[in-house]
Amino acid sequence: MSDSQGSAGSAGTATTIDALLQESRRFPPPPAFAAAANVRDPSIYQRAHDDPEGFWAEAANRLDWYQRWDKVLEWNAPWAKWFVGGQLNASYNCVDRHVATWRRNKAAIIWEGEPGDTRTLTYRDLWREVNRFAAVLQDLGVRKGDVVAFYMPMIPELAIGLLACARIGAPHTVIFGGFSAEALRDRINDSKSKLCVTADGGWRRGSVVPLKDTTDAAVAECPTIEHVLVVQRVGPDVRQVNMQAGRDVWLHEGVEQVLRRTPHPIVAPEHLDSEHPLYIMYTSGTTGKPKGQLHTTGGYLVGTSLTHDWIFDLKDDDVYWCTADIGWVTGHSYIVYGPLANGASVVMYEGAPDFPDKDRFWALIEKYGVTILYTAPTSIRTFMRWGTEYPERHDLSTLRLLGTVGEPINPEAWMWYQQYIGGGRCPIVDTWWQTETGMIMITPLPGIVATKPGSATRPFPGIEPDILDEQGNSVPANTGGNLVIKRPWPAMSRTIFGDPDRYVQTYWAKYPGLYLTGDGARRDDDGYYWLLGRVDDVVNVSGHRLGTMEVESALVSHPAVAEAAVIGASDPITGQAIVAFVTPRGGQQPNDALTADLKEHVVRSIGALARPKRIYYTAELPKTRSAKIMRRLLRDIAEGRVLGDTTTLLDPTIVAQIKEQYASSEG
Ligand code: PRX
Repeated sequence: MSDSQGSAGSAGTATTIDALLQESRRFPPPPAFAAAANVRDPSIYQRAHDDPEGFWAEAANRLDWYQRWDKVLEWNAPWAKWFVGGQLNASYNCVDRHVATWRRNKAAIIWEGEPGDTRTLTYRDLWREVNRFAAVLQDLGVRKGDVVAFYMPMIPELAIGLLACARIGAPHTVIFGGFSAEALRDRINDSKSKLCVTADGGWRRGSVVPLKDTTDAAVAECPTIEHVLVVQRVGPDVRQVNMQAGRDVWLHEGVEQVLRRTPHPIVAPEHLDSEHPLYIMYTSGTTGKPKGQLHTTGGYLVGTSLTHDWIFDLKDDDVYWCTADIGWVTGHSYIVYGPLANGASVVMYEGAPDFPDKDRFWALIEKYGVTILYTAPTSIRTFMRWGTEYPERHDLSTLRLLGTVGEPINPEAWMWYQQYIGGGRCPIVDTWWQTETGMIMITPLPGIVATKPGSATRPFPGIEPDILDEQGNSVPANTGGNLVIKRPWPAMSRTIFGDPDRYVQTYWAKYPGLYLTGDGARRDDDGYYWLLGRVDDVVNVSGHRLGTMEVESALVSHPAVAEAAVIGASDPITGQAIVAFVTPRGGQQPNDALTADLKEHVVRSIGALARPKRIYYTAELPKTRSAKIMRRLLRDIAEGRVLGDTTTLLDPTIVAQIKEQYASSEG
């Protein structure tokens, strides 16, 4: 592994005896659950293994195709084409086909705003809104192939807008609303977006997030943007926004214009090639520049729809809630495309879990009768810290299945979730996947796989991972190594938008023909997978991925900084926290004011999610003789471990100095 090998993600807490005991506990599927589960026959694993293409072809029959595919898979490693020759439309599959059935009056989106306002859209309502939105997009000149950026709060118009884009074949790129203007600008420019959809604001902990102002700052430097489409979420009494004549259009005014022409606008779904781009999702990597993962239509929809059905054991009367933001891949795959393709009722919530009080999630579960909850370990640890009194205020008995995603879950958090949220009766699916994989890859199937707290258990049928050493040999049981995927899968990212070489280099070069996940893992004696965190320079803060290089680039762009090294140090709540080691420029005195300024500077460059938790100053950074910063050593210092090998250091005394400073500042 690289010099910057990650610390074992869950190891920080797994060392207590309690946790070790829990690690070896097994939770078989509850018999009543298993008896009614969507997947009851374990032979599915073998069948999918023996004939993966047949398996995925059968899965593809879940969707409606305008034209059936000629070939399931065309694989010229690392380039995959799935359902070659097939034609379909994701918007049609998520909306129109349900409107043609009894589901037309089923709730598609059950939405609650942070202030408590609510909206429920049936599939028929969703269909009407998607058509209207698509007509507005067309009026603004958006055509098949044009990229549309979204910088939005969690309101129904976000899902509606994505489906409207999919309807006309315009790939979307959603930029999480917590990103800064600079980050938004860079992503819009990289994707060459023609239109940016935003809102006058969104609610977060009782305050308005000024999305339109940030958009204005970003698009001032985005030459490809022709229009900004603005959704009125908070209204002018709460926040006045600047509308630039000729460029900015209110969505409701655009809709009014469409309705003046025709009271019931219908935009026919485009018949799109299976490999037509559906969206670009930016994710952090090991360099300063985020990577635009390109996902396409047919394979992605097959993968997300099947996994959503089987892993969450979706029934038609379920009320499903994934607490992610649609600004991340989890929201794309498991709020929008997977669930809606399956005709599910999806809960969507705009705001924070502690507004107005720390029981908001549990209040929502009780209010809407949520049956399936999918959330992140960092949230679970936060709830643990807040205490059981908050869930105990509410009736959570409707819940029947729980899921987690985003980072390794420590066994204590797993047990707490199982006991206090699931009432001891709900299976937990710990789902491992990535922006690049598009769909869940390692996970229990809740009706047939016994779970172990802290393990994502088994690969999904048709998925073939392995764990390799540096030479590419499969490692024996209970040995850590690099997690790879050996066979293509339908929802895989097809390339990095605009940079195919980087796609090859990042994922397919280390072990030719095998997909390198960037995660470490081990398998136990039962063949269960235990994810050990990133092995590259990627930090996972509250389930959000950040490249250490991105934060370093932000820091060194500050005039007071000569050099910076950033690491992810274990954190009891956020999984990892950003810790920066900074060498100030000559004449700069480190002090609290500079620390505060540097933190703000990073927030301005990337967004609040990248704010360093701690900054340490050092006259020099530990480097190898080839001038590579040894982040591993910094991590050892930050996590109080005995230092690993320091013999390759250019100047070993530096580490001792940093360690001393770290220890004194900790105290
Ligand atoms: O390190 C793994 C971790 O999150 C990374 C992917 O991050 P991102 O692309 O932002 O997608 C997050 C949501 C899919 C992975 O490389 N990760 C995700 N899920 C798990 C996990 N680590 C351990 N267990 C998981 N269940």
